[in-house]
Amino acid sequence: MVNFKEEIAKLIAAEVTDLELAEIQSMIEVPQDSKMGDYAFPCFKLAKVMRKAPPLIAKGIAEKIAENTMFEKVEQVNAYVNMFISREALVKDVVDAVMAEGAEYGKTNIGNGGNVVVDFSSPNIAKPFHIGHIRSTVIGNSISKLYRALGYNVIGVNHLGDYGTQFGKMIVAYRHWGNREDVINEPIKTLLAYYTKFHVEAETHPELEDEARETFARLEAGEPEEKELWQWFRDESLKEFNRVYDMLGITFESYAGESFYSDKMPAVIAEMREKNLLVPSEGAEIVELQQYGLTDAPVLKSDGSSIYITRDIAAAKYRMDTYNFVKDIYVVASQQNLHFQQLKKIVELMGYDWCKDIIHVPFGLVSLEEGTMSTRHGRVVFLEDVLTRAVEQTKEIIREKGVNTENIDETAKIVGIGAVVFNELSNNRIKDYVFSWNKVLDFNGETGPYVQYTYARCASVLRNAGEEAVKAAQAGIKAQYITSESAFALAKLIYRLPQVVIEAAEKYEPSIVTRHLVDIAQGFNRFYHDEHILVDNEEEKAAKLALVLAAKTAIRNGLALLGMEAPERM
Ligand code: ARG
Repeated sequence: MVNFKEEIAKLIAAEVTDLELAEIQSMIEVPQDSKMGDYAFPCFKLAKVMRKAPPLIAKGIAEKIAENTMFEKVEQVNAYVNMFISREALVKDVVDAVMAEGAEYGKTNIGNGGNVVVDFSSPNIAKPFHIGHIRSTVIGNSISKLYRALGYNVIGVNHLGDYGTQFGKMIVAYRHWGNREDVINEPIKTLLAYYTKFHVEAETHPELEDEARETFARLEAGEPEEKELWQWFRDESLKEFNRVYDMLGITFESYAGESFYSDKMPAVIAEMREKNLLVPSEGAEIVELQQYGLTDAPVLKSDGSSIYITRDIAAAKYRMDTYNFVKDIYVVASQQNLHFQQLKKIVELMGYDWCKDIIHVPFGLVSLEEGTMSTRHGRVVFLEDVLTRAVEQTKEIIREKGVNTENIDETAKIVGIGAVVFNELSNNRIKDYVFSWNKVLDFNGETGPYVQYTYARCASVLRNAGEEAVKAAQAGIKAQYITSESAFALAKLIYRLPQVVIEAAEKYEPSIVTRHLVDIAQGFNRFYHDEHILVDNEEEKAAKLALVLAAKTAIRNGLALLGMEAPERM
């Protein structure tokens, strides 16, 4: 595709002195109001070097570049050069590119195969996989896909919380009061109950604490009996987690969780000791970080056992050694801001310059609208229940609407789960937000169902046109038929998709993609409303169908970057 910004920058560069091409390109704006052009160039900065008033400079540039065939017209308004791209040129360029690239449209190769680790979801074993986990899971999945679309090799890591003294307690509880059947039937609920019972019992029987400590020590030492139980707890928990990952269509390249680093910790501790980073403190050992404006980080407990951060130091180092990453991204709640600042600092103090490539991508809290969610598991709202309920409610909505109920189960799954995912990704990630069913499942709002519905509408237009007509559209078009206001506006939105993907990845912000998809959907619906598509004139019909197909492809590719599917019928 023609990079219009770059081409414009070249034209302007020929007319001005003292400004680099890259700088000129970065100064080119896309006006909010398309009446001000498709691109605009402000001339304020040039006044000093060119010793002329900005409007005069703008006038000069406008006159010089206006002849270029790329433009429909070029105007000077005050200090701005407003440029209107030739509609035919742009529309043809976009449609051709989408036809040629298909599912690849929107992707670039900025990453050049470099390795990017994305640490996401990472729930704790034997703890509920609840609505709060949706954020890391869904945002992390989308960030993985965005980086893949930029040509990076992404390693999605589920850094499971599968290690720590609580497993000693769980094993002890299981041995005293446990039951195999219960664990198999409802692993997480059961294991959680054991953990709770342990704490209740330990209040009157403090010797249980010693037993748990010894049990954990045996686990760390790799004693077969303890190891087997731990492994079993882990497997059963994962089965439950995997049900949710299956529903969301999420996979990981690695499940190396905290336990994976248990045998890699001694070397890391030794290295920190050798580099004089460990300071004794009340029997424990810490890394002093106060002089860097952080709180000190304990890395070894008084009994010599490791801590969450110790395992993260080992993990970062392991990932560098194994993947030689260009980025190591952690999609974790902002409550852990301090933890990741400490991690980064410690890696820096260990002398590794790749500490700069450790990137914490934080997000805010999700809370629930009062009374909107069944809480059949007690106070905790399981993610699985939210997804199941979304599918059920979508089924009801589809039935009520009386529309296509042929593959209702499949459609309800794509739309219901997609609705929850899209809602999650619509929110600027750093903001806290309130989960509201009405908003999630609104087919007319700026939601997943709305975008998917628009996609299905594109599909339906193409079906009605028939295969022959679609083939003709794919064979090449006369662009003059799709230069109306709404056709051109839609084409411009499709044109911007690759740029939007880059921006979303660089900012670790999938909401930039959801926003753009809503724009494309609205753009398509305006076009659909304004124009008669299946006209008699074959050339005109082909051109319009090509634009429909381009919109459909762009929506599908965009949804895929969010981890969503697109239904052909809805
Ligand atoms: N298991 C942790 C939790 O639930 C999140 C782990 C995030 N990843 C990491 N490498 N620390 O809070």
